[in-house]
Amino acid sequence: MNISTSYMGLNLKNPLIGSSSPLWTSMDNIKRFEDSGGAALVLHSLFEEQIEISAHCSQSTVTNGEAEYLTYLPDFGLYGFGADHYLSHLQKTKSAVAIPVIASINGVTTGGWVECAKEVQRCGADALELNIYDIAEDLSVPCAAVENRLFDLIREVRRSVTLPLAVKIDCFFSSIPNVVARIEECGVDAVVLFNRLYQPDIDLRTFEFLPRIRLSTSGELGVRLHWLGVLREKVKIDMAVTGGVHSSEDVVKCIVAGADGVMMTSAILRRGTGYVTEVIAGLERWLEYHGYSSFGQLKGILPTISSQHLKSQQRINYLRVLGSFVEY
Ligand SMILES: Cc1cc2nc3c(=O)[nH]c(=O)nc-3n(C[C@H](O)[C@H](O)[C@H](O)COP(=O)(O)O)c2cc1C
Repeated sequence: MNISTSYMGLNLKNPLIGSSSPLWTSMDNIKRFEDSGGAALVLHSLFEEQIEISAHCSQSTVTNGEAEYLTYLPDFGLYGFGADHYLSHLQKTKSAVAIPVIASINGVTTGGWVECAKEVQRCGADALELNIYDIAEDLSVPCAAVENRLFDLIREVRRSVTLPLAVKIDCFFSSIPNVVARIEECGVDAVVLFNRLYQPDIDLRTFEFLPRIRLSTSGELGVRLHWLGVLREKVKIDMAVTGGVHSSEDVVKCIVAGADGVMMTSAILRRGTGYVTEVIAGLERWLEYHGYSSFGQLKGILPTISSQHLKSQQRINYLRVLGSFVEY
């Protein structure tokens, strides 16, 4: 059974990639993930803010290196590390495992911090994922300006490294196809669909917003499948799914809709790195049962959304879906 795939030029033994999360701050988890059959992993992100704080502290009177400037970092919990710490963790990870290791940087502005992408390349990352998590809150800034700022950043990162580059986006753009096409024009190798927005709760005793992170469910996969189905024939750039992948069936759905890589975090956080073995065995069983010998035969086999639902029928289908609701 051949369940290998190619994602942004990396040959993966199967499509299952561990997405960026604090799981990969632990070398034990990283090794267990590889032993369980995971094909590649994206390290937790190094944030623009962390790079700038580290640079600022190393230029100031601090002389004793990382240990000291770390005390200057605000309390970012598991993300309380500086750029040097991240780069050394990347090097250790690379020497500990044979699977591709994708570094992740997270930022929204252009500037000196982007130089860090070069360091990531120098430290041996197999690829780089750029997470552009940008929440526009300014009434006076139009959508085009927000998007142009992101494209400027993407171009700057692209110029800085020759590594395969992926960009992880959210789904809150007015025109996702246009954004993905423009990311492709920037020379990016893959797009990761989609970042989840972390939505707060409200404490009704103190009337405060509460930061909250909820793990996903498979229910979040639908929006990703929809956009794979729309984009697959329109763009050439590789696509990976992140968000709502919890089972072997979820992985198969992503592949038939056209994904080149499929990422997982919440399911591994809930069930442990060993769960990856179960998911991969499930993929092989699924292929065998349905008479396929490789993922190549299945990739993008689904008709695209536009050929299934002609444009003129889209709103009719929307009405039909709403009307099909059955009261329980
Ligand atoms: C605790 C936690 C930390 C995360 N940290 C990062 C991060 O540093 N960088 C990033 O790009 N995504 C981060 N993510 C998002 C995941 O990579 C992933 O895109 C998201 O959880 C959706 O996938 P899932 O449904 O498989 O969980 C984080 C997610 C969780 C739950």
